[in-house]
Amino acid sequence: MINKKQVLLEQIKADILNKNICPDLAREATNLVMGDGNIDADIVLIGEAPGKNEDEQGLPFVGASGKFLDTMLEGAGIKRSDVYITNIVKYRPPNNRDPLPEEKAAFWPYLVRQLDVIQPKIVVTLGRHSMEYFLPDRKISEIHGQPKRIPFGQSKIVVVPLYHPAAALYNGGMRTTLIEDFNKLLKIIEIINKETFAVRRKENT
Ligand code: URA
Repeated sequence: MINKKQVLLEQIKADILNKNICPDLAREATNLVMGDGNIDADIVLIGEAPGKNEDEQGLPFVGASGKFLDTMLEGAGIKRSDVYITNIVKYRPPNNRDPLPEEKAAFWPYLVRQLDVIQPKIVVTLGRHSMEYFLPDRKISEIHGQPKRIPFGQSKIVVVPLYHPAAALYNGGMRTTLIEDFNKLLKIIEIINKETFAVRRKENT
């Protein structure tokens, strides 16, 4: 059976290719890395941009930081196959340099469309590059691990900003903090579910 969400996500990919978004990155890249995982996920994780392994395989977070991410998800009781993972920039920047502001801006509308299709309960930003679009002018060191409900299109969305696994991989303190923050995610969803239930009950009385 054709899945409507799958069709819409394929359309987003086709639009990026047809509109030739970030042609300089596209020319150097092996793959457009759209995302991977469960399209009905409660959690969407958003990284920065594909690295070498991701570019080669066409999948997000499959290199060293991906392995660390897998370990943290597992430790938090979350299956990787239950979440959806993507990046703000969907082509690998040369030599893994930081994505440029214009590259992030060019891909942002497509990320918004992906979230509109998937409709997750929470969006987990990994690192400042994806955080700054949802929570501009905030410092990750001050708000990491804290759920923030923000306006998003016609409705609202809960964003949980976390450190980037690559930054935390070899930094003991940040690593512990990131693991602790991952361990909060299921609790945050539980609270959102309770709130939604309470609002629905109120609406029905
Ligand atoms: N780092 C990211 O931000 N994204 C990936 O897909 C891989 C590494």
